[in-house]
Amino acid sequence: MKIGVIGTGYVGLVTGTCFADSGNDVICLDIDADKVERMKKGEVPIYEPGLNRVFERALREKRLTFTTDLEKTFRESETLFLCLPTPPGANGQADLSFVLSVADKLGELFNEYPGYKIIVNKSTVPVGTADKVREKIASKTDAEFDVVSNPEFLREGAAVEDFMKPERVVVGTRSERAAEAMTALYEPFVRSGNPIIIMDERSSELTKYAANAMLATKITFMNEIANICERVGADVDNVRIGIGTDSRIGKRFLFAGIGYGGSCFPKDVQAIHHTADEYGYNFRILDSVMKVNESQKLSIVEKMKLFYNGNLQGKTVGIWGLSFKPETDDIREAPSLYITEQLAKLGVKMKAYDPEAIKTFQDAASDVTLANMEFMNDRDSVIEGVDALVICTEWNEFRRPVMDRFAKVMKEPVIFDGRNLYDLKRAEESGLIYISVGRPSVNVHKSKMATV
Ligand SMILES: NC(=O)c1ccc[n+]([C@@H]2O[C@H](COP(=O)([O-])OP(=O)(O)OC[C@H]3O[C@@H](n4cnc5c(N)ncnc54)[C@H](O)[C@@H]3O)[C@@H](O)[C@H]2O)c1
Repeated sequence: MKIGVIGTGYVGLVTGTCFADSGNDVICLDIDADKVERMKKGEVPIYEPGLNRVFERALREKRLTFTTDLEKTFRESETLFLCLPTPPGANGQADLSFVLSVADKLGELFNEYPGYKIIVNKSTVPVGTADKVREKIASKTDAEFDVVSNPEFLREGAAVEDFMKPERVVVGTRSERAAEAMTALYEPFVRSGNPIIIMDERSSELTKYAANAMLATKITFMNEIANICERVGADVDNVRIGIGTDSRIGKRFLFAGIGYGGSCFPKDVQAIHHTADEYGYNFRILDSVMKVNESQKLSIVEKMKLFYNGNLQGKTVGIWGLSFKPETDDIREAPSLYITEQLAKLGVKMKAYDPEAIKTFQDAASDVTLANMEFMNDRDSVIEGVDALVICTEWNEFRRPVMDRFAKVMKEPVIFDGRNLYDLKRAEESGLIYISVGRPSVNVHKSKMATV
């Protein structure tokens, strides 16, 4: 099939590359001319495990091309995937301006080059967007076309694997012709029997939001359990294992931490809450999810304030991890952005390291944060001479440091771990002052902080 991908970011580039890998001819379009030039030269502009290899092969076999030319993309494609941003608007609603302005241009192109095509919404879009895109295009042309909703469920950090072997593919369309074409396109990816689920457009659009809202709620629920654990002297890891073995609950997504971030959960929870509002329904559970997550992101700073009796001024702190999760350079809505900004405002100097996300962090962090931060090339130089270490992201290389080294090179071996990386007994044996999430603090005098 001849495929056009409009918007070549995390989703578009993975989509385009994986479709090219399964034998389709793919043309990827972006308005960012610099990015397009880099991709034409063979450079993958994002960090995503496994993407380089598939990308290089598709480029070599000339099945993947890049352009800034929408007209060319339109002419050369039978099916066009919209992988455009849908950032949160002022009231939390999904901003559809990127999607609708492209739909408008597609309408004009249909008028110029009539002939059946399928327009696929892969962006996460509110219920009713397929109808809006259809109306936009139809207002400009009498050409035959279908608009399909095909939400994407890939996880950054495992995007290629998720795209190549999806647990399910959701396709929202009432057109048999479009359903057949989409099924043919996705069949190579579900050969082991995972389903391609065809439904109406609105249910498909809502499925994506329901999935993300459910996952954000699951994380938040465990974070609240962790907060209770800290107060009652229980260990959230034991509770997690205790409930995760119940197959109705399941083992995954039960790890307590410093809140969810990333480009999807925060904005999608807001957006579905906003959609519910528009339809006169108060999605109460998501009110709480958003509130709890806001405070959870800064819970580590609150623990630091308690530990240092409210005075962090003049401290130097190491930061391990900046990306919102491991195996990605994406820092959108990462807890690290909020934590470092708060620490900067409290007069803390920081030394930070992340294996992939230093550049993206520097592009996004506020001036006040950056003025108080120094960036290091490796994990170990971060901890030299610092008063404390804060762990924001669970990159693998942070899981197995030489434990004795903390006490040797830090002013005091104090670790605030937002990701519960270390075994409590091991931390104790290594002489660490170790404060994590939802677990008893190690080597901290009880009187020092009631809940830490
Ligand atoms: N990132 C994820 O993990 C993920 C997962 C599932 C769904 N989604 C959804 O997919 C959509 C895209 O997300 P993303 O993370 O890939 O975004 P992104 O910001 O990484 O990429 C969007 C791309 O679109 C380009 N663009 C903007 N306006 C354009 C235009 N008019 N024409 C052509 N290109 C244009 C941008 O330059 C950018 O390269 C969003 O709706 C998001 O919610 C994202």
